[in-house]
Amino acid sequence: MKIAVVGSGYVGLVTGVCLADFGHDVVCIDKDAAKIEALRQGMVPIYEPGLDELLKSNVSAGRLSFSGELGDAVAAADVVFIAVGTPSRRGDGHADLTYVHAVAREVAEAVSGFTVVATKSTVPVGTGDDVAHIIATANPDADVAVVSNPEFLREGAAIEDFKHPDRIVIGIEDERAREVMMEVYRPLYLNQAPLQFTRRRTAELIKYAANAFLAMKITFINEVADLCEATGADVQEVARGIGLDNRIGPKFLHAGPGYGGSCFPKDTRALVKIGQDFDSPMRLVETTVAINDHRKRAMARKVIAACGGDVRGKTIGVLGLTFKPNTDDMREAPSLDIIRGLQDRGADVVAYDPQGMTAAQELMADISYADSAYDAARNADAVVLVTEWNEFRSLDLERLKSLMRAPVFIDLRNVYPPHEVERHGFTYVSVGR
Ligand SMILES: NC(=O)c1ccc[n+]([C@@H]2O[C@H](COP(=O)([O-])OP(=O)(O)OC[C@H]3O[C@@H](n4cnc5c(N)ncnc54)[C@H](O)[C@@H]3O)[C@@H](O)[C@H]2O)c1
Repeated sequence: MKIAVVGSGYVGLVTGVCLADFGHDVVCIDKDAAKIEALRQGMVPIYEPGLDELLKSNVSAGRLSFSGELGDAVAAADVVFIAVGTPSRRGDGHADLTYVHAVAREVAEAVSGFTVVATKSTVPVGTGDDVAHIIATANPDADVAVVSNPEFLREGAAIEDFKHPDRIVIGIEDERAREVMMEVYRPLYLNQAPLQFTRRRTAELIKYAANAFLAMKITFINEVADLCEATGADVQEVARGIGLDNRIGPKFLHAGPGYGGSCFPKDTRALVKIGQDFDSPMRLVETTVAINDHRKRAMARKVIAACGGDVRGKTIGVLGLTFKPNTDDMREAPSLDIIRGLQDRGADVVAYDPQGMTAAQELMADISYADSAYDAARNADAVVLVTEWNEFRSLDLERLKSLMRAPVFIDLRNVYPPHEVERHGFTYVSVGR
């Protein structure tokens, strides 16, 4: 099939590369000219394990190309995917649909023949109706079926997730789209990935409901962690004890500094707004958002308490900046709030992250950056592990301690067994145990 993917960010690029790898003929489009130029030269603008090689092999095979203009690719396409950003709208937390609407208008001008327009961006219920309306108004002759096809991939495991999804959700209003979308995903369908066909509005809501549920699960165990600290229980064991119950399951039960990233914060806020707009409040999600916002800043206070209640003039080494390991994405990372909280109380921060420092430097120009975990620990009064990159899982604790001014280790991801760190003479503080 001929496929155009509009928006070549974390989702659009992975989608385009993987669909090309399925054998489709794909053009990835982006209005960011520098990004397209880099892609044409074989340079991947994001850090995503395995994406480099897969991109190169599909370009070599002639199935994948890149363009700054959508006209030709959309005119030739059987399916156009919309994969542009839907960030929080400044001020009110609604999903900002400016980019999606702009693409709909451009697509309307360019389509030719029957074309499926599939929205992969996470969009509020009813956006598919808006996209269909925009296209019909701009080009009454356009013959399109607008589909909702939300994406569930995780950054850091995006290719694996795209190629082996738990499910593929496809919301259609026009039966002609069913066969086209089955053809797009045929290689996965043959692999038994469940394809769930539903109405368009249902598909749009499935995505928000899934993200909000996961965000609630994380927030639940974070609150249980606080209760563990207050009562002397161990959250790791509580999580195991409840996670072994099949009805609950062990995933997303890791206590930590609060969820961040490009999806959960904005999607939970957007779902709260959708609920309000439809006069059907999402109270659990509202509370989840409030708890999580509060928690990130509370982590700075936890660090300050571990340093004896005062960090003025002290140096804090921060290990890990990205919102999770195996990505360079800094969007709404807890590290941003934690570091700001420490700076507000007079601390100097030295940070190290294996992949996130370029993006971090744009957001935090006023901290120092180190070349390694040990470099970040040099002369530090405390070290805080914020993101659980693999290289922080087996630190040489003896060496770390020898570099530090004071042996204080705050582990916000519960990576280490307490006794192991304490054995090396550290004051060790973790979450919920
Ligand atoms: N990042 C994730 O893990 C993830 C997972 C599932 C769903 N989503 C959803 O997918 C969507 C995209 O997210 P992302 O993280 O890939 O965003 P991103 O910011 O990485 O990429 C969006 C891209 O769209 C481009 N763009 C914007 N307007 C354009 C236009 N008119 N024409 C062409 N290109 C245009 C931008 O230049 C950018 O490169 C969002 O709705 C997000 O919620 C993201």
